[in-house]
Amino acid sequence: MRPTIDWDGEVITIIDQTALPGEYRALTLHTVDALIEAIQRLAVRGAPALGVAGVLGVALSARAHPNDPDAVRAEAERLATARPTAANLSWGVQHALDHFADSADAVSTLAHQVLSADERNNRLLCERAAEVIIEQCGSRPLRALTICNSGALAAVHWGTGLGAIRALAEQGVIEEVLSCETRPLLQGARLTVWELAQLGIPHRLCVDSAGPAAISRGLVDCVVVGADRITANGDVANKIGTYALACAAAQADIPFVVVAPDETIDPTLPDGTRIPIEDRPAEEVRSVGGLLTTLPKTPVFNPAFDITPISLITAVVTTGTIFTGRAVTRDGSPTKSLATAHLDNA
Ligand code: MRU
Repeated sequence: MRPTIDWDGEVITIIDQTALPGEYRALTLHTVDALIEAIQRLAVRGAPALGVAGVLGVALSARAHPNDPDAVRAEAERLATARPTAANLSWGVQHALDHFADSADAVSTLAHQVLSADERNNRLLCERAAEVIIEQCGSRPLRALTICNSGALAAVHWGTGLGAIRALAEQGVIEEVLSCETRPLLQGARLTVWELAQLGIPHRLCVDSAGPAAISRGLVDCVVVGADRITANGDVANKIGTYALACAAAQADIPFVVVAPDETIDPTLPDGTRIPIEDRPAEEVRSVGGLLTTLPKTPVFNPAFDITPISLITAVVTTGTIFTGRAVTRDGSPTKSLATAHLDNA
């Protein structure tokens, strides 16, 4: 697969995620406005990819306005707020602005570095998450459930939550993946299923509202997801529907594991209560494939994300740390304590 997002020193190229699974096509973005538009309509999406987009967008702006640092900062500010929930986007913009203080070339060099580090870092992260999952579940063939898309399409390569499932599949311990559809934009149905099919990992598409039921019926050994923002105490913002899955996993006493890079951590927020939650347009809910499914002016509740408290989560595995929450029992006794055993590998 091509990188989900790329920079050749002049333009940004993305895989247009609105076209999948029907068409795998690239889009070239020449301006920060075009990048913001692509982010807002989810042509490029997923927290790690948004972090990279933040860096690449500032590199693009610095190239477009070589003698106008104020113009670069103004574009950077608009880019950082294009979507509010994923911590990675504003992190990426700020990281690039810090380098821009040195020179425009320094930002372009940073963009290349961020792109080339993505796969290595994510693979390492996912191998560690896979170890945690096996430690918590045992290495029997596992039935994993996930929501949204946290695979290669949500990063540059490889991914996070789905990347951990991929690492488990490489070890031969995945029996099946249930991918929740992820209404209303169907990232699970369109993107995760597409990635799983490309990788040859056995899977079934799961009706969103059936995810908790699948867990309660004993059809799932572990829930594995990505994250958009992780607060200082380990609370997690992720795709709407994640919280219900975490409640069901807690009730069923199965592991619920979150996998994300360190850039998703927002140390300025003590807990999840103040994470900004993006509200998406009503049109996304009122119709499917252009066909109205309700009355045309029906008021709509369409938050893109929800908050899952650390108390419902078994482990939040990031590049540099592990937040631990709810312990699970296996064969009648608590599983091995997660402590911070993996920190040394960071
Ligand atoms: O609205 P999206 O598609 O950007 O939402 C993405 C998610 O919720 C992902 O689970 C999250 O960003 C983690 S991706 C590795």
